[in-house]
Amino acid sequence: MLDRVLGYARDHRDEYLRDLLEYLAIPSVSAQPDRARDVKMAAMWLSAHLRDLGLRAEVMATAGHPVVYAEWSGHDHHRPTVLIYGHYDVQPAEPFELWHDEPFKPTVRDGYIYARGADDNKGQHLAHVKAVASYLRAEGTLPVNVKFLVEGEEEIGSPNLGEFIAAHRELFACNCVMISDSALFSLTQPVLTYGLRGLAGFEVQVRCLERDVHSGHYGGNVQNPAFALAQILASLKDEQGRITVPGFYDDVRTLGADERAALARIPYGEAEVMRETGALRVFGEPGFTVNERRGARPTLEINGLWSGYTGLGSKTIIPATAHAKITCRLVPHQDPDKVIRLVQDAMRAAAPPGVEITFSDSRGTPASLVSLDAPEIQAAARAAQAAYGNPPFYELEGGSIPVVHDFQTLLGKPIVLLGFGLPGDNIHAPNERFAVACYEKGIEASIRFMAEL
Ligand code: BES
Ligand code: MN
Repeated sequence: MLDRVLGYARDHRDEYLRDLLEYLAIPSVSAQPDRARDVKMAAMWLSAHLRDLGLRAEVMATAGHPVVYAEWSGHDHHRPTVLIYGHYDVQPAEPFELWHDEPFKPTVRDGYIYARGADDNKGQHLAHVKAVASYLRAEGTLPVNVKFLVEGEEEIGSPNLGEFIAAHRELFACNCVMISDSALFSLTQPVLTYGLRGLAGFEVQVRCLERDVHSGHYGGNVQNPAFALAQILASLKDEQGRITVPGFYDDVRTLGADERAALARIPYGEAEVMRETGALRVFGEPGFTVNERRGARPTLEINGLWSGYTGLGSKTIIPATAHAKITCRLVPHQDPDKVIRLVQDAMRAAAPPGVEITFSDSRGTPASLVSLDAPEIQAAARAAQAAYGNPPFYELEGGSIPVVHDFQTLLGKPIVLLGFGLPGDNIHAPNERFAVACYEKGIEASIRFMAEL
């Protein structure tokens, strides 16, 4: 049966690719209110697609963007049930001018699909859908019961999903959860992720004046908010990259010697960071390796910073306000609310006189660690080895997937984190891409995982 299903997937690769391109053409940017109709369209597209395959599928309302829920179960109730999670929303595509192709006119070039959402996450969860399609169309059945939960708010922090899952707990009864929303090491080296970082963020506004004023007439007599914000922000880290916010590192989980040794065996380091990002040098907290910093150490970053006049030419003003978007990546045992409080307190304390500082849009999600002991993880490891040719690396990832924490507290089932993308896929950046080979290997890995389960 396995060979026939894999063969079916190979024979239908062109059709499976066409379907992904159609899905990618829908600009489902969850962060932008004027895209709300497109977000809904993507949910409708996916649920119609799942229904065509013979699943019971529906678009379910939440307090925000809708959830696509679907299920297939055969008559054998002894089969395990796998809940497959994905997100159909995508990051904003801006700045458009840096794209070589249009982000929502998917283009296949040199073996890569270029489009916003190609890797993160439409290509990855559609690979699971196509695995299910291959079973059902080749054999009329699946070796497991399958449920899909594909949400539309992951890229904005899944603010409504925990509540939604809690309210529909019976729908999500399962033996394990499968999430493909991360990366392989390479096409021949799979990765099973055992930890994800959390996130704590907010926006800050610094105001010194009632309105922008002439920088000649008033300059020298009033505080400049851009300068004040720069001072405040500069106080949060030392020159070496250590965060100086009092208490920031207090709850951070320390790595054991075994874990450090295991992370050290992964051949990923400074050279790879430089090559993938074009960074002029590697910069980070002293005393930790690249892999440790990415997975096991918290960060504090400025994601956006603006004030005054930034258009063409010059404008001699002192701006009234300055703004920044701040997020911290968190590691296990850090509490997002506490971190937000600590950072905001430090910012208030660093503010020079004559400055009004206000915070808004605070939000957070804790980090998570998943247990690697479950038989479902071993099934995923065997499937990955068969699909990619090598046993997986076990890694801590730097990104966040908020639902993982919700699943852990609400379902308490094993969670398999097996990524199908590549590190160079430019997720959240211009020219996001997904290798056609990654899509096809992802379909194969998913088919094999269901067989192994
Ligand atoms: N797919 C990413 C998470 C990810 C990135 C996992 C890199 C592993 C490696 C996901 O779509 C994502 O971007 N999540 C956001 C969540 C945030 C908005 C709460 C993130 O990490 O910024
Ligand atoms: Mn993302």
